[in-house]
Amino acid sequence: MELFVDSASLDEISHALDTGVLDGVTTNPSKMKEAVELVKKQGKKVSLTAYIKQLCRMCKGLPVSLEVIGASYEDLVREGLLLHRMFNPVAKNVVVKIPVNPQFDTEKHRVHDGIKAIRSLSKKGVRVNCTLVFTPEQALLAAKAGAQFVSPFCGRLDDYIRSSHGMKFSKGEYYPAEGKKRWAKQWNDQGVVSGIDLVAQCVEIFDVHGIKTKVLAASIRNVRQLREAAVVGAHCATMSLETLEAALVHPKTEQGMKKFSDDVVPEYASLFKK
Ligand code: G3P
Repeated sequence: MELFVDSASLDEISHALDTGVLDGVTTNPSKMKEAVELVKKQGKKVSLTAYIKQLCRMCKGLPVSLEVIGASYEDLVREGLLLHRMFNPVAKNVVVKIPVNPQFDTEKHRVHDGIKAIRSLSKKGVRVNCTLVFTPEQALLAAKAGAQFVSPFCGRLDDYIRSSHGMKFSKGEYYPAEGKKRWAKQWNDQGVVSGIDLVAQCVEIFDVHGIKTKVLAASIRNVRQLREAAVVGAHCATMSLETLEAALVHPKTEQGMKKFSDDVVPEYASLFKK
């Protein structure tokens, strides 16, 4: 399973790279906003072109997802090609992120513009990560259009299911893969009971039909969700540096480490001084 960090912070990405087990980086306009605000807070001027080039350079050999901002077929393709032209020459690792359906204003845009843009960009040899996936059908269509990755948003689907049932929760709070039952009724969104169930159904569809597109579990908010994404066969998962590091923490590991360290006798310590 490939592990990605979901960040546009050069500092966080460099920490994640330092683990030696990072397989890629995902960004989006919200992550770019955080990065820009941080640079401004440090009193520095922001040149996003130079910044993103540096990001791509430091991730040489690993895919870096960069997202478009448009909402029509023409804009999605134009911006996708522009991102690819500007940043792919740096380290040949750009993957363009395209929303599965950019429609948020029924007057202006068509529901299938995302899929059409994925098809056009893929045909031109641009690797695509299809984002904002909330149903297995969206994932299937994106795969058919040629996306290399599809990104089901686990945490946000859990938010949708629990908030539509009036449940109170905090952002990082765990929601079980098997979903919740109340009064014998299974909470679900069109038959999907949780974010992890969404990932599982995408993986199953791709397996059954021999589809090569990778399921990239996104909006992973905590370590148990990461584990469950791995259990159901997600090909990749993207998470914050905080979640990635939290995956290494257990109180008994810490306790055991302290005990071993306390038990080192000088005879044993001297072995390591050669
Ligand atoms: O990878 C998508 C991610 O950035 C969304 O995360 O936690 O805001 O739902 P979140």
